[in-house]
Amino acid sequence: MAVERKAVDLAPLKSAKLPVIFVLGGPGCGKGTQCAKIVEKYGYTHLSSGDLLRDEVASGSERGKQLNAIMEKGDLVPLEVVLDLLAEAMLKKVNDSKGFLIDGYPREQAQGVRFEESIMPCSKVLYFDVPDEVMVERLLNRAKTSGRVDDNEETIKKRLATFHKHSEPVIHYYKDKCAQIPALGTPDDIFVEVTKFLG
Ligand code: AP5
Ligand code: MG
Repeated sequence: MAVERKAVDLAPLKSAKLPVIFVLGGPGCGKGTQCAKIVEKYGYTHLSSGDLLRDEVASGSERGKQLNAIMEKGDLVPLEVVLDLLAEAMLKKVNDSKGFLIDGYPREQAQGVRFEESIMPCSKVLYFDVPDEVMVERLLNRAKTSGRVDDNEETIKKRLATFHKHSEPVIHYYKDKCAQIPALGTPDDIFVEVTKFLG
């Protein structure tokens, strides 16, 4: 897919010296749920790459249509698209943010490398570890109300395969700053472990 890119001045982000936390884990592991709790307690700015992409789709742009087709297949969208959306969203908030929670990114090692080179270094990584069958159950349950084009049995299988192939290796890449949290309990139980790591 050809990608249009705007020239954006990233200097305010580079000089901001704010904490950046990458929040990783398979589809339906609870990234969004835990991020909402982290925002409440720590006041960080939550940016979900999936939500930013869905906003772009909702805008009705040609690019949005192409993105929707990729997300419907459970594949990864091109790196530059997500990186640009994140950078733009971070720039909007940088002056009154305590730090950034980046949910669902990086989904492949190259995304992490490019983010840290062009935006700012990541301070910590949270990884929510949940068996596939539990993630499927959670997503099929959410499918009843989510309206998401990728919350169906076939796409969920593909999202899981994409996660294991491309995203799981990212956790090993960041092992020195990553907390691997088993995320089978209640959201509150899991959040206790999150706060132990975030301090
Ligand atoms: P994205 O929107 O990030 O989807 P995802 O990773 O598949 O994860 P979800 O948002 O579905 O789940 P979640 O982990 O946030 O869990 P939630 O808290 O909602 O990405 C969508 C697509 O966009 C990708 O497939 C890809 O195509 C594209 N994309 C996104 N980022 C990209 C990137 N960086 N590069 C390239 N492409 C990218 O919880 C799920 C459900 O479980 C909810 O109903 C919730 O209430 C429930 N639940 C949560 N916690 C618990 C618990 N502890 N116990 C019981 N139920 C729970
Ligand atoms: Mg999410």
